[in-house]
Amino acid sequence: RLERTYAMIKPDAVGAGNAERIMQQIEVNGFTIVQQAKLQLTREMAEEFYAEHAGKPFFEGLVTFMSSGPVVALVLAKVNAIREWRTLAGPTNSNRAREEAPESVRALYGTDGQRNAVHGSDSPSSAQREIRFFFPNLVLDPVPDSA
Ligand code: CMP
Repeated sequence: RLERTYAMIKPDAVGAGNAERIMQQIEVNGFTIVQQAKLQLTREMAEEFYAEHAGKPFFEGLVTFMSSGPVVALVLAKVNAIREWRTLAGPTNSNRAREEAPESVRALYGTDGQRNAVHGSDSPSSAQREIRFFFPNLVLDPVPDSA
């Protein structure tokens, strides 16, 4: 099924000058970038975006990191986009990614468990929420399942 997912290039990768290379890797792997915006999150936006992690030991550090510099917000389209983008991104921890998926985005551009270069939605409901969070004015065309 043709799906859309939310992808985000995080402040570590944008700050290191890797955003263009990551978008090329995304397109080479068959995704269409249907929306793209560069912006800096406020602390409040980062807290709301990652609300499901509130109270976890890494939450404060995550919010500080994610609001520390610009991000690139992306909507990606592909058959099975949600699962495919999580596979291309690789394991959350960049060091594990280098062992288990050396060609993944996090293996190539991430640093550790927090500074891991990219985010990807983990389910259809989170993709819908995350796309709306960053692109509230986006009207998604109805796409037939056979497309
Ligand atoms: P992401 O896929 O954006 O989802 C939640 C983020 O929290 C994750 O990527 C990491 O940036 C961060 N994160 C998850 N687990 C840890 C951890 N154990 N320590 C530090 N940061 C983490």
